[in-house]
Amino acid sequence: MVKVLFVCLGNICRSPTADGILRELVKREKLDQQVQIDSAGTGDWHVGKAPDVRTIAAAKRRGYDLSFLRARQVLIKDFDEFDYILAMDAANLCALQALKPDHYAGYLGLFLDFGSSKQYREVPDPYYGGNDGFELVLDLVEEAAQGLLAHIRHNLHSS
Ligand code: 4NP
Repeated sequence: MVKVLFVCLGNICRSPTADGILRELVKREKLDQQVQIDSAGTGDWHVGKAPDVRTIAAAKRRGYDLSFLRARQVLIKDFDEFDYILAMDAANLCALQALKPDHYAGYLGLFLDFGSSKQYREVPDPYYGGNDGFELVLDLVEEAAQGLLAHIRHNLHSS
């Protein structure tokens, strides 16, 4: 079993998008018994809430259901549980590096390092912007999720 945690600031826009998209890809490839996915925020403002309505609507237009997800904050024990902890941007990666126990043996890094965009290393926060921002999140996440899944599939087959 490989466990992946996506992390952004509020856990209502970017990381739930990555969570729902990777779940769908994994389901389509019948890998859902081998890959477990979750998401969390470094902040606690939105704990218990569903994703932002704009995030749910934009994802739904591309065939992904995010409505069942609920926000939670990152926990220290996540480092005991998850093999991959993937931050949406550098600020959230810094927050995670500060929380990380010394013994963490998993992969902590930027999600878009699994994508091939030359222009973006971070997923821009869409919260205070317009619809274009939510579409950009989907474009970047769909692409990097394919790269991440290829990487995971390769590791599953070689282990
Ligand atoms: P997310 O977006 O980190 O992608 O979930 C945000 C959601 C809420 C806030 C900031 C970013 N906020 O400031 O409440």
